Amino acid sequence: MRQRVFSGIQPTGRLHIGNLVGALNNWVRMQEQYDTIYNVVDLHAMTVPFDPDEFKKSRLNTARLLLAVGVDPARSLLYYQSQVPHHAELTWILSTITGIGQMERMTQFKEKAGRAGQNMGLFSYPILMAADILVHRVHAVPVGDDQAQHLELTRHLAERFNSRFGEVFPVPERITPEIGARVMSLQDPTAKMSKSDHSDASRVGLLDEPDVLRKKFRSAVTDSGREVSYDWDQKPGISNLLELFSFFAGRGIDDLVDEYADAGYGAFKSAVAEAVVEGLTPIRTRYRDLDDAEVARIMEKGALEARTRAEKSMRGVREAVGLGAR
Ligand code: AMP
Ligand code: TRP
Repeated sequence: MRQRVFSGIQPTGRLHIGNLVGALNNWVRMQEQYDTIYNVVDLHAMTVPFDPDEFKKSRLNTARLLLAVGVDPARSLLYYQSQVPHHAELTWILSTITGIGQMERMTQFKEKAGRAGQNMGLFSYPILMAADILVHRVHAVPVGDDQAQHLELTRHLAERFNSRFGEVFPVPERITPEIGARVMSLQDPTAKMSKSDHSDASRVGLLDEPDVLRKKFRSAVTDSGREVSYDWDQKPGISNLLELFSFFAGRGIDDLVDEYADAGYGAFKSAVAEAVVEGLTPIRTRYRDLDDAEVARIMEKGALEARTRAEKSMRGVREAVGLGAR
C-alpha cells in the first residue's frame, strides 16, 4: 500500500513564493509517490478576524491556485476542510486527551496571544491540525519549520490515544524539503517571507505580474561587498536569492556561484528575477484559464470522497473510545 500524506494551507492572503518553495512544490511532487490528501484549511483561517464575503472568495482563489500550481484532482484528494465534519468531531475527541499546559507551550499561540481578537479557536488550533492529520491516519506530513511543533503535538496525541485506547493511529513523520525550507523576506533576509509582512516589496506573490516581480528583485536588500557567494552568516541577502535562483532555474548553487561570482549584484538580481518570472508564468496562465464553477465542482467532488473515507476511519475511532453505534 502506498503511504498516505496530508497537508493543509490556509486561505488567508495571497500566496507567495515562500509557500511554493516551502510547501506547495512538495505537494505537487509527492503526488508521484504517495497517496496525497490536501486541504484548504478554512476552519483554521476563522481563528483570526475575517469578513465572510472576502473569506468565501479567498477560499475559492486558494483552491484555484492549488490547481494552478499542479495539485491534480485525479491523483490527490483535494477539498475544503469544513466540508468534512469528521475533522471537527475528531478535534473534540483529541481535545479530551490534550493537556492545557501542553497547549500553553505552543510558540505560535504565544506569539499571537495578547493580540486583539483572542479566541478559543486560536488556542485549540493545533488540535484541529492534529485531527486533520489523524482523521485520515496518514503516515507523513510535509510542513515548514514553523509547523514542526504542531506536528510534534500531533505525534504525541497519536501515541497517547494509542496507549489509552489501542493502536488506531500511525504516528506521522515529518517531510522537510532539502533546500529553501525557509524563504526569507526580500527586504530583510533575517526575517521569513510572510503574507502578514506590512511591506508588499518583501514578498513575491505567485500571481505577481512580471514587471512587478522584476521591480521587487531590483529593490531586494543585498549585503556589503560585491561578490556573489553562498554564505548565510556574511551574506544572507545574496544567499536567499541564490536559493531562489537554484529552485526556479533547477541548477545547483555551486554552479550559479561559479557563473555569477563576479557579475555584480545588479546583474545577478536581474538573472534571479528572470528565472522566477519563467517559473511563475505557467502558474499564472493556468490560474487564468480555470473558471470558478470548475473549481467549485472539483472541490465538491473531493469533499464527497473524503467524507466517505473519513467516516470509515472515524468508525474505528468511535469504537475504540466507546462511542460505537452499538
Ligand atoms: P503560511 O503562509 O504561514 O500559512 O504557511 C503556509 C505553508 O507555507 C506552510 O507549510 C509554511 O511552512 C510554508 N511557508 C510559509 N512561509 C514560508 C517561507 N517564507 N518559506 C518557506 N515556507 C514557508
Ligand atoms: N497550520 C498549518 C499552517 O498554518 C496548516 C495546516 C492545517 C496543516 N492542518 C494541517 C498543515 C495539517 C499540515 C497538516 O501552515
